[in-house]
Amino acid sequence: MSALLEVRHVSRSFRTTLAVDDASFEVQPGELLGLIGPNGAGKSTLFNLVAGVIAPSSGQILFDGKPIQGWKSHDIARVGVARTFQIPKPYRQLSVIENVMLSAFLREKSIAGARRLAEATLADVGLDAYGGSPASSLTVGLLKRLEVARALAMRPKLVLFDEIMAGLTPTEVGAMTKFVAGLPARGITVIWVEHVLYAIMKTATRMVVVNRGKKIAEGTPTELARHPEVVKAYLGEEMDLA
Ligand SMILES: Nc1ncnc2c1ncn2[C@@H]1O[C@H](COP(=O)(O)OP(=O)(O)OP(=O)(O)O)[C@@H](O)[C@H]1O
Ligand SMILES: [Mg+2]
Repeated sequence: MSALLEVRHVSRSFRTTLAVDDASFEVQPGELLGLIGPNGAGKSTLFNLVAGVIAPSSGQILFDGKPIQGWKSHDIARVGVARTFQIPKPYRQLSVIENVMLSAFLREKSIAGARRLAEATLADVGLDAYGGSPASSLTVGLLKRLEVARALAMRPKLVLFDEIMAGLTPTEVGAMTKFVAGLPARGITVIWVEHVLYAIMKTATRMVVVNRGKKIAEGTPTELARHPEVVKAYLGEEMDLA
């Protein structure tokens, strides 16, 4: 089976900070890959590179076998990569459904078509009761679901979730974990950055661990829980191990 995503020797620096340092990993279709690492490890930067928010300083990113590094984010979304933002960025003055429709227009040309896709996506994430509400009225938990809906309304093949559990109640974490776990069976491959380790460790099929921009380990959650470098990378970090 050929990889859906291949990150090959990718680096990105910001002035003196080497945020991503020669990172290489692959994601197979149908995987739920957990991407973990301490604060500042370079996880969000990796997502920004894959989604085309920024370009790599060097290295290659292949999606479905095609090099996409340096492409505009809109073109990367079109070939099937969607992402959520660590800090939700809805258009606060628009309603919840209007926010999702803006994503749906990537696939649906008509307003009616975009509305139908947005409605279906809102129902999917359990936000159907909030379609008419202003995005600014949502609680943190609902805002995270809106981020997920905005990504999924692009009908991605690969979705990048950046800390969609942060600020959620334990009940919300449980519901979101179950939802994410179900995505690969629906043909959506997932890379999931999360500090809520217990949720990701029980859900991910495989994990990649980064620290200071470098990949330091990869393996199954069980393998990594025993990996000395992984344990060391987390010592002294304020990780949510609840
Ligand atoms: N646009 C930018 N300009 C300058 N430095 C940046 C920029 N984006 C990220 N960095 C730096 O790159 C490093 C990696 O940051 P990144 O946000 O990717 O980490 P992270 O693993 O997502 O951390 P967290 O778990 O806290 O979200 C940090 O040192 C950060 O300050
Ligand atoms: Mg981050």
